[in-house]
Amino acid sequence: MTDTLKRALLLLHGPNLNMLGQRQPEIYGTTTLDEINQRVAARAQSYGVKVTALQSNHEGQLIDWFQQYGAEIDGALINAGAYTHTSIALRDAISGLNKPVVEIHLSNIHARESFRHHSMIAPVCVGQVAGFGWRSYLIALDGLLGYLGLAD
Ligand code: DQA
Repeated sequence: MTDTLKRALLLLHGPNLNMLGQRQPEIYGTTTLDEINQRVAARAQSYGVKVTALQSNHEGQLIDWFQQYGAEIDGALINAGAYTHTSIALRDAISGLNKPVVEIHLSNIHARESFRHHSMIAPVCVGQVAGFGWRSYLIALDGLLGYLGLAD
C-alpha cells in the first residue's frame, strides 16, 4: 500500500472474466477486464482507497487470495462468475474473512437461466449488484465505500 492511499480493497474476478470484451458481448458488453479495473481503481483512488484487482479461473486461487489479503484489506468486491452458483468453499472463505464483501454481476442473473438465479455467496455478502454491465462494478464500489463510511 502506498502512503497516500490509507485504505485498501480487494477486487476479485472469477472464471472466464479474463475474456471480457470478446466473451458473449451481447450479454457482458465490450468493455475489457483491464478497463473495468482501471475505472474502479480511478474512482477508489479519488476516495483515498487502493484496489488490488486479481482474476483467476480457479476456485482455490480465489480462496487463497481472500486468505492472503484478508488481514490487510477493509473489504472486498467479487464477481465470482459461475462459482457464484456452486461454491460453498468460496462462501466459507467470505464468511471467514470478517470484512464486508459485495457481490457483482455484469448481467442480471435473476433474468437469465434458472441455475443462475441462486447465489451461494449472497447470504454472506453485504449486498449484490447485478445487471448494469461494467457499471455494476462502480455501483458496488460506491456501495462498499458508503458501507465502510468512506463516502457519503
Ligand atoms: C456473471 C454471471 C454468471 O452467471 C456467469 O457464470 C458469469 C458472469 C456476470 O457477471 O454476469 O461468468 O457473474
